[in-house]
Amino acid sequence: MKSAAKRTATMIDSATEDFTDALLEGLRTAPKSIPCKYLYDEAGARLFDQICMLPEYYPARTETSLLRAHAAEIAALGGAGVEIMEFGAGCGEKIRILLDAMDRPRAYIPVDIAETWLRTAVKRLARHYPELRIYPTVGDFASPLPWPTRSDHRRIGFFPGSTIGNFTPAGARQFLVGLAGILHGGALLIGVDLVKDPAILHAAYNDAAGITAAFNCNLLARANRELNAYFDLTGFSHYAFYNAREHRIEMHLVSRKAQLAAISGNAITFAEGETVITEYSYKYTVGEFQALAASAGFSPRHVWCDPERLFSVHWLGAP
Ligand code: AVI
Repeated sequence: MKSAAKRTATMIDSATEDFTDALLEGLRTAPKSIPCKYLYDEAGARLFDQICMLPEYYPARTETSLLRAHAAEIAALGGAGVEIMEFGAGCGEKIRILLDAMDRPRAYIPVDIAETWLRTAVKRLARHYPELRIYPTVGDFASPLPWPTRSDHRRIGFFPGSTIGNFTPAGARQFLVGLAGILHGGALLIGVDLVKDPAILHAAYNDAAGITAAFNCNLLARANRELNAYFDLTGFSHYAFYNAREHRIEMHLVSRKAQLAAISGNAITFAEGETVITEYSYKYTVGEFQALAASAGFSPRHVWCDPERLFSVHWLGAP
């Protein structure tokens, strides 16, 4: 049997290999891209927490207000003694709104890719809810989900933050199909960012303090830190815009000059002005999202929106 230290070393080795392979594959394909899950190392997760506090980034505070305003109704829909599974667990603030409102939830299963950050969030939560069983799970929730489709307890999935928008619509549907299976007999509470005035969207992804730019550029800094890679960090800049035809924010890194980067002895060339797609963030109308969820096997039951219709929170039954 492997020792814990050896197991951890093997996990780190395979994560490093995955990141190297993803970078090589994405940067050798036209247009160049890097999967957005690599934005979330510990530094990236911290920067994302800061994004959530920015005045321009309305999704986090709007969703939090919606959850607070409708917590009692949500708790009543959930029922007593449920298991709550949270995907992309976040900093733990939103789940506390649910835990405070719900009737004696029996367990909380947060799933997140950023391990240290997840463990810190869980420790904080355990201090506040000593009775609650918490089963933190480190992993990429976008990969096939490891839970059995049958459970003795009603399961409620919680997927806040409009992270569903970081999938393509086809990928979102596939992910929701998987969730519908796991949550079978329960429900999904999911936050979805809405189509709106492009100026509001532009500001949210191009904040004046430059935190989103730092979050985006951290991807290359992470490659330099973790891999046998060299990117000139002064040679790339953040670029985000709303693609109205596709209903999505596109986040890119733009090469400021013709240059070479190196990854594990492989040279990658960049033309001046060439971009690397680092994230899509799709926006939906309420009707579009409900149709997507229904096509994945959910029954849309309730939706709560703020008065300005910036953001929506959906309750989807999983029959
Ligand atoms: C995590 N996700 C929903 C965020 C979004 O808005 O798409 C990530 C983000 N990217 C830039 N700012 C925030």
